[in-house]
Amino acid sequence: MQRWPKPAEGSWTEHYPELGTGPVSFRDSTSPEFYEMEREAIFKRTWLNVGRVEELPRVGSYLTKEIDAAKTSVIVVKGKDQQIRAFYNVCRHRGNKLVWNDFPNEEVKGACRQFTCKYHGWRYDLEGALTFVQQPGEFFDLDNAQYGLSPVHCDVWNGFIFINLDPQPRQTLRDFLGPMITALDDYPFELMTERYDFVAHNNSNWKIFADAFQEYYHVPSLHSQQVPTEVRQPNTTFECGHFQIDGPHRLVSTAGTRRWLLAPEYMYPVERATRSGLVGPWRTPETHQSAGLNPGGIEPWGITNFQIFPNLEILIYHGWYLLYRYWPTSYNTHKFEAYNAFHPARTVRERIEHEVASVVLKEFALQDAGMLGGTQAALETGVVDDFPLNDQEILVRHLHKVAVDWVEDYRNERSPVGV
Ligand code: FES
Ligand SMILES: [Fe+2]
Repeated sequence: MQRWPKPAEGSWTEHYPELGTGPVSFRDSTSPEFYEMEREAIFKRTWLNVGRVEELPRVGSYLTKEIDAAKTSVIVVKGKDQQIRAFYNVCRHRGNKLVWNDFPNEEVKGACRQFTCKYHGWRYDLEGALTFVQQPGEFFDLDNAQYGLSPVHCDVWNGFIFINLDPQPRQTLRDFLGPMITALDDYPFELMTERYDFVAHNNSNWKIFADAFQEYYHVPSLHSQQVPTEVRQPNTTFECGHFQIDGPHRLVSTAGTRRWLLAPEYMYPVERATRSGLVGPWRTPETHQSAGLNPGGIEPWGITNFQIFPNLEILIYHGWYLLYRYWPTSYNTHKFEAYNAFHPARTVRERIEHEVASVVLKEFALQDAGMLGGTQAALETGVVDDFPLNDQEILVRHLHKVAVDWVEDYRNERSPVGV
């Protein structure tokens, strides 16, 4: 395995001295009290990705997002002016949930000309204005203009739709994303519209799961596939080429052509047979360039994995990408959303490559999910709380530090130290 040069300080971790190098506590992932603080300090105050513009193709296209961590439901809709807006999913008459189909807690997607409340039939247009009230003469000086849907801040970056539940966001979306992420401004995500989505409900804290997707140290051990133990290489290692941190966000780049990111003995037979799999189609039609894609100048470049705080991860491969979102549902459970996105297949062979890549991803993610339920349970025993992290795990160290910092900042804002 190739060794990659480290920063002048001798390690990636020491290059960011605020991270320290000592053992790390994971109490932030086992404490119900901490989770309650995260809801306020993080999920109700930062930009959250809820979809892509392709999901709202025409005027009236909408989707709802249930955000358990913020105890809310949001409607995202494309208006007559083509602008995408977000609203709390609450009728202004008596608070009924406005948009849902069979089960009130399930997310829905569709297209409509207006939203009609199921309870008393009030209607709202695509821009959130109240347009119809049943028996208006029965009300007392009702001014429709005062009873539009409550807006939620909404903005779009490179086709990714974000919302912010803070009544007054402290940063614009662009400022929040910062230079490392916005360096991808020209990356053509919009070309990759063939999507394979899946959702899993996992028994671990959202950060514990995210951790497994921000280090590759575990890959030779956990994802050893079907390699018989007697032929498995005992000392297989994996070293990443470049780590970078910018504010609350982080990235890691790994080297390798599509085919050799994983050695063949770590692949399933179907991957070898179809020449596709976890690392995508081995022969990808095109690779798109962007200044932000390979900031470490890794050659040959393989993947860059962007971790956008708090719960979004975009992994860009040669000509396709993967997206993960971790939505907490309690201190020790979360909903994991994932999809693979490819250029629309032009041949049957390409379609098979895409499907194999998607199925293998699901298999890998399940390997992580199954094990991390065990990690969570073991952490919750509370027996141990100082965990040594190595230099390949720098991003794990960073995520937990940022979460703790945001919670502490929030606490200090509410009751400043010494007051
Ligand atoms: S609660 Fe929506 S119309 Fe009455
Ligand atoms: Fe994994």
